Amino acid sequence: MVIFGASGDLTKRLVVPALYNLSRSGLLPERFALLGVDHNDADAAKWRTDLRNFLENQVKRGGGEFEAGEIDATSWDRLGASMSYVSGDFTQADTFERLKAQLELLDRQNQLNGCVLFYLAVPDRFFGPIVDALDRAQMTGESRGWRRVVIEKPFGHDLESAKALNADLLKHLRENQIFRIDHFLGKETVQNIMALRFANGLFEPIWNRDRIDHVQITVAETIGIEERGRFYEATGALRDMVPNHLFQLVAMTAMEPPASFDADAVRTKKAEVFRAVQSLSPADAVRGQYGAGSIGGESVRGYREEDNVNSRSRVETYVALRLCIDNWRWAGVPFYLRTGKRLPGRSTEVAIRFKDAPYMLFRDTPVDALHDNWLILQIQPDEGIRLRFSAKRPGPEMILESVAMDFRYSDWFKQAPAVGYETLLYDCMEGDATLFQRADQVEASWQAVDPLIKAWKAPPQEEFPNYAAGSSGPRAAEELIARDGRAWRAIR
Ligand code: BG6
Repeated sequence: MVIFGASGDLTKRLVVPALYNLSRSGLLPERFALLGVDHNDADAAKWRTDLRNFLENQVKRGGGEFEAGEIDATSWDRLGASMSYVSGDFTQADTFERLKAQLELLDRQNQLNGCVLFYLAVPDRFFGPIVDALDRAQMTGESRGWRRVVIEKPFGHDLESAKALNADLLKHLRENQIFRIDHFLGKETVQNIMALRFANGLFEPIWNRDRIDHVQITVAETIGIEERGRFYEATGALRDMVPNHLFQLVAMTAMEPPASFDADAVRTKKAEVFRAVQSLSPADAVRGQYGAGSIGGESVRGYREEDNVNSRSRVETYVALRLCIDNWRWAGVPFYLRTGKRLPGRSTEVAIRFKDAPYMLFRDTPVDALHDNWLILQIQPDEGIRLRFSAKRPGPEMILESVAMDFRYSDWFKQAPAVGYETLLYDCMEGDATLFQRADQVEASWQAVDPLIKAWKAPPQEEFPNYAAGSSGPRAAEELIARDGRAWRAIR
């Protein structure tokens, strides 16, 4: 495995820790070598030490990502001993010649089996040039084993640039050599949506416009933009979250059952959902930006006061959308999506609201919002599934009360500690592309949001900031859903 951007944050925080966890679980291939490439003047020893030190601190801290305590020496040594480093500029041909020589050396030492995974943990402007250079140095041919390339979002900034990027990559690689990561698909509970829907006879018959009133998908974060002011100013919440992460949740929820778990069968069904999404218009969208406020009792500054952010910035940190999926299953069932920074709680969920029962029997029983039927797929934190329904309160009178059945992952399974990239990396090595985005999916999702991106090039009419940090978003988002006689679920 070759990592471009070996000294970067992604490598340190996610890729190498995930490899370490794979090593712990005995899931690294028998012959495995890790080769770092970056422009700084490091060597294998320094790279190894830096990564180990960082990992050591993380492991000591524990959490859900590692078995807390000390680094497991055997697992680390297995990884550490396999590391080598090539220092060089990604835009210079000689970097790739040296990389090739290093791969050949590893091959002679019998550390390779001809298969190479190139992980591009680099800013997106390098995706095209690196793949181009790999091809020129003849490292993408598969005569002796597979060659695969992993890239992370952003896959373009709009429809046009996404198409250009895909065309660029596909000049040198076949589609099945490209693994586009959306890290939301590495989350257990996102994958579990497919199990819930297709491994049970219970839900699928009611999973349609006959029984479902609407769907709410929320990705709420309490964090602000942290140290990413520069990135965020050029990106905004819509591009950062919607055509990728939120759309993956939409696809998992809305897709038709695939004929098999074959990667292309699944991805074709997802792409069909994106293609059925009606283009978004500004009338069905709300943008917001946080001002100063307080979260969990702590005062936090507004977006415009964050580092590397223009003090008059008009970039959105919150988006709410009303989405229509024009197909047989979902016609007339709105999907309401919202995501934002500095909201009152961290919660990612897909909430499905079923249609009301005919209430004749309970004519005299007050019916309020609490008496709705909901199926809530809690993606994070507290992964689980909750079904809300009405029950009779004990006593002589017929009084209904809203109750819930709760399934919590942690009650049933002991989850192996994970940073979330383990499955994804393992799948890349296995060649299973089910959890990765295909070119047509990427383009279809940009296609759906493109009209909004274009419309939002004009400055927002609304005054920014328009929601206080710690509140649940701009008032206009409440109005968007209230127009249809519905309300958002509370963010906790
Ligand atoms: C990233 C976005 O892709 O996803 C971030 O760039 C966001 O802005 C993050 O915070 C959310 O991911 P997670 O796994 O923390 O929910």
